[in-house]
Amino acid sequence: MSQWQELEHKYFMHTVERTPVTLVRGQRARVWDEDGRQYLDFVGGWGVNSLGHCHPVVAEAVAEQAHTLIQTSNQFYTIPQIRLAELLVQNSCLDKVFFSNSGVEANEGAVKLARRYGKRYLDGAYEVITAMDSFHGRTLAMVAASGQTKFQQPYVPLPAGFINVEHNNIEAIKAVTTNQTCAVMLEPVQGEGGVNLPSNNYLPAVRAWCDQNGILFILDEIQTGIGRTGTLFAYEQYGIEPDIMTLAKGLASGVPIGAVLAKDRASVFTPGEHGSTFGGNPLACAAGYATLKYVIDQDIAGNAKRVGQYLTKGLERLKQKFQFITDVRGRGLLVAVEFSSDIAGAALTACLDRGLLVNRVKPNALRFMPSLIIGKDEVDEALGILDEALTSIKE
Ligand SMILES: Cc1ncc(COP(=O)(O)O)c(C=O)c1O
Repeated sequence: MSQWQELEHKYFMHTVERTPVTLVRGQRARVWDEDGRQYLDFVGGWGVNSLGHCHPVVAEAVAEQAHTLIQTSNQFYTIPQIRLAELLVQNSCLDKVFFSNSGVEANEGAVKLARRYGKRYLDGAYEVITAMDSFHGRTLAMVAASGQTKFQQPYVPLPAGFINVEHNNIEAIKAVTTNQTCAVMLEPVQGEGGVNLPSNNYLPAVRAWCDQNGILFILDEIQTGIGRTGTLFAYEQYGIEPDIMTLAKGLASGVPIGAVLAKDRASVFTPGEHGSTFGGNPLACAAGYATLKYVIDQDIAGNAKRVGQYLTKGLERLKQKFQFITDVRGRGLLVAVEFSSDIAGAALTACLDRGLLVNRVKPNALRFMPSLIIGKDEVDEALGILDEALTSIKE
């Protein structure tokens, strides 16, 4: 263990099992540790570094903004947040934006907005239906929203108003919808839950059900948005439009930011009903604008689609070779491989030893969410390392 890692053990709350490497520098899809060793990064800051590490357009936008204006509070108008809001609205089906600092805050904002809508138009309805195996963040309310016992159990009793139902099952949603329901909230593709794809008719059926009952459909695109799944937003691939959408992760390529977007009719906050000190500050929004403009102008979502298909094909070849790979699934550059037993930790270590960083999303599954600007050569390199790593486990 290095000196830094010993200090971490001394000073940090133990909330995460860190991979034993201390990263000091990054460029594009590569990072370097404190000993100068290089790694190909297929974790991407947990699906955040959409343009890779320290992309010049982001670094320059941040540096310029840091020399100009960093924080003012939302008591005043500032130009970077207005430019970013305009770009988001012009390139999505939503009309209005609120900026936060993280994904979970964006989801809190979305649920508050839905409750506000419920108070105004649905006789005080406040319940939000969510899915099992979902992940919406770590505040108490979003732990209640996230349908995973391991996140909920340590904190019961949880805030009321969330009902978790079986994922990918429209009948389960119908069964719990009452006159207390104000919204359904789903991830288009469940990320943290193991990269779980919906069946093609699920999201359209939820959309129709929400319309039929006059309730809101919230899509959490925190992990799937900003090109990750091969289109700018994942909803585009399912032929539906949400009433509210949340973003974070890839929006500023590493600088903390979150956003709640809503259709005009669902945009019901009035002054004083929601807010944030840092949310939408000029620094984060300059990074967000630079990232999103580049993603749109350079068709980075198209690259994620092409390179993602190439990665998936390569992983399917490995599935032919290694019988203990039971599934390969994903969209764009959000992909998982599942194993027949709990070997994901061993596979992660074997990859790390060979210079590839991956994420163990479940004891029996690895998740890949590299930068969206990677090419086929980097995928070939990663597949080569994974092949060697899995061979070493098999032996
Ligand atoms: C779909 C989804 N929603 C919400 C969150 C929470 O975002 P944050 O960690 O920025 O609060 C995450 C984080 O992994 C996520 O994947």
